[in-house]
Order: sequence, then C-alpha cells, then structure tokens
Amino acid sequence: MISVKSERATAGAGSELPVVADTFVLAHLSDFHLGFPDGVGVRELLNKRVLGYLMWRLRRRAEHRPEVLGALVSDLRDMRPDHIVVTGDLTHLGLPAEFLRARQWLSALGPPSQVTVVPGNHDAYVRDAWGRPVAQWADYMVSDGVSSPDPMAPLGLFPTVRIRGPFAVIGVCTARPSLPLLAVGTIGRAQLARLEKVLETTSRQDLYRIVLIHHPPVSGTVTWHRRLTDSAAFREVLARQGAELVLHGHAHRTFMHQLSTPAGKVPVIGVPSASALGRTAGRGSRYHLYHLRRGDHSWDLRIAVRAYPFNEKSYPGRETLLDPFSS
Ligand SMILES: [Fe+2]
Repeated sequence: MISVKSERATAGAGSELPVVADTFVLAHLSDFHLGFPDGVGVRELLNKRVLGYLMWRLRRRAEHRPEVLGALVSDLRDMRPDHIVVTGDLTHLGLPAEFLRARQWLSALGPPSQVTVVPGNHDAYVRDAWGRPVAQWADYMVSDGVSSPDPMAPLGLFPTVRIRGPFAVIGVCTARPSLPLLAVGTIGRAQLARLEKVLETTSRQDLYRIVLIHHPPVSGTVTWHRRLTDSAAFREVLARQGAELVLHGHAHRTFMHQLSTPAGKVPVIGVPSASALGRTAGRGSRYHLYHLRRGDHSWDLRIAVRAYPFNEKSYPGRETLLDPFSS
C-alpha cells in the first residue's frame, strides 16, 4: 500500500448516487482483451485484423484468460468499491461479437451508473468497427444526463463527465483506427479544447477530478508505435487546468508518474491487463484500488494493488501485493 497526498482540497457537490461523503473507493481495471468465439469469418479479417488475429492465435490467446479475469473480478466484488473504471481494450479485434461479449461482461460487472468505460485502440481496431462500441456500451460511457448519443460520431461524446458526490470522473477517448503494426492513440484538438473547459468547470465546482485515458500521457511509458500522438498537448492542458488523478491502461504494467499542475503534482497511474496469465514478469493480472479519504484540507489517496500469480503450483491461488513499484 502506498500513500499519495493530494494537494487539492475539495468540498461536496451534487450527485445522482449516494456516495459516502468522506471516503470513496475506486477500482481500476483495464485491457482484458476478451477475445472472440471460434469461427471468425474470412471477410472480417481482410484488413488490419488479419495481423491481430494471427497474434491472438499465436500468443495472446494463451495470455489473456477468461478464468483469470473471472477470479480477479470475483475478488473485486468482495472489495465492494463505490465505483469501477475500465480504461479500454475490452476487445481484441473490435469484432461485433466481441462488443456484444464485452457488453454482457460489463452488465455482469455492475450497472452503468457504477461503472465508467473509456475505449482503447483495440476497440477501434479498424474503421468499419468504430462506432459500434458506442451502440453497445454507450450507457457505460456517456456523461450524466445523456441518454441517446450519436453512434455515428463517437468522438463527440468525449470528454465525458460523471459526477459522484465530490468526485468528477472524466473520460477521454484516444481510440482511433490506425495503420497495421501501429497501436497509437490520438485525442484530437476538438476534444482537447472541450477537455480544457471540463477541467476548468469541475475545478470551479471544487470537484476531485479523476481523468480516465487509455494511452499513457507520459512520454516514454510505451514504445513509439504505441504512443499517444498528442500527449504533449494533453500535458499542457493539465498543466493549465490541473486534475487530481489520471488513470490509464495500454502498457500492461503498473506505472506511476507525476505531472506538475497549478494545484500540485498529479499522480498518473497505469494498471496492467486484468486477464493476463503473467508469463512475463510484472504483467500478471492486476487491478488497483484507490482509497480516497477527506482530510482537513486535502484528500488522502492510498493505492492497493490486487494481484494474482497464476501458475501450475498456485492456480488458482492469489495474493495481495501492497507495493505497485515492486515489479
Ligand atoms: Fe491498448
């Protein structure tokens, strides 16, 4: 368990849901690449998907295991978090069958009011698929009060804003179709401009701002072909408007960085894949629990990493790791 002191004091605000005023437990999971049923049609693979399909058959299918994800989610339920956030890559090839499977999985995880999703690059794998996530997962992504988003303009949904007590959960979309062998993300100037206003408004409302983004916004966290193309512009917005916490996925490892803002240092935290068997050290299935407690003039943030070493001896054993920097 590590502690990070948020330098920003917050006060209560309106909410659609009852939230304990002085404590909040947020669960963060990501990148579970649910996969697809056997028998993918050849026509569905006549594009970038053919490479992703081969990678899935050769390597990823053995790594991202539904039984691992199931055990992890079972543990998550026992923790009874106030809210759950999922930072993208629920699917692998962005196939319709995968979106439906992910929808069913989200429904089992919790109601849309308690689960917030932002998409990842795999959820926008090819151009013809982009838009379907909106139709399938819209109620898990949309801002409070939005009931019928335009499925033909998914980027127009973002940034999303969901207010839960003194917390603003702000979703940023980096998912865009990209060329084969690339897994880059882009926020775009229009969304960045809207994000700046959202951060400014929620700051004036004295909300604790939690920003969700699939791609890591700190340079060097992932390789060039997996980068966020406009990460510098995102960091500039944050430097001007601040935020209290930034959560991301995509890297399949626990990462912790800090960015400077007018309100102090903002933790930027990445979580590994929730379904990974962990055949590579540090990449096993994990999720994070952020315990927020109101102090006299600030919020205290404690971070717990719930991890599952799965191997032949311990399967389906599990244990809790307390230090996210240990791997
Ligand atoms: Fe990703």
